[in-house]
Amino acid sequence: METLDALKYRKAVRKYKKEQIKDTELETILAAGGIAPVGMGDYASIHVTVVQNPEILKKISSAVKAAVPEMNAPDPIYGAPTLVVVSSKPNERMPTIGDFNTGCILENMMIAATDIGVGSIFMLLPVFAFTDPLLVSKLKIPSGFKPLATMALGYSDEPAVSKELKNKFETTILR
Ligand SMILES: Cc1cc2nc3c(=O)[nH]c(=O)nc-3n(C[C@H](O)[C@H](O)[C@H](O)COP(=O)(O)O)c2cc1C
Repeated sequence: METLDALKYRKAVRKYKKEQIKDTELETILAAGGIAPVGMGDYASIHVTVVQNPEILKKISSAVKAAVPEMNAPDPIYGAPTLVVVSSKPNERMPTIGDFNTGCILENMMIAATDIGVGSIFMLLPVFAFTDPLLVSKLKIPSGFKPLATMALGYSDEPAVSKELKNKFETTILR
């Protein structure tokens, strides 16, 4: 797929098939994240967790429902068979760097996923559930790292749509 087509076909998938994605697809997606730009090239400040254990996914889903009741979704992780969690070491001097790095990493992963036919969605809400120490211990996030964002992966059970390539932002161009 051409890059612009992958950008146009990427969308937040909220309905997934039960079938797990192939390990080779997961590896490609993780590798795409691994070549994302990261501030000061500090790749060691990031940890990636991949949850494919159905029991843990169920626990995360229930914990998100409890933490964000107003969301009112039957399953806030949409039945996705894979959940990627990106964690970062807090940086006192540059407190936002982890957020920016995580955005770059997950966007790379989502574009790569679209390119190889895997659906995805960027999700912040699951992070609300990661205040439960029991759940956090199940995720085995190394000490010193803070989970910042998640992304679901799986085969989409929604129709593919191509977006129009369009700037939606009020923009000032100074020439
Ligand atoms: C920072 C960020 C946080 C998001 N958090 C959630 C979330 O917790 N749950 C969810 O269903 N969608 C979440 N989304 C998905 C957005 O709602 C979605 O990307 C947006 O509506 C645009 O739709 P599109 O991705 O299909 O283009 C998030 C997206 C971003 C970029």
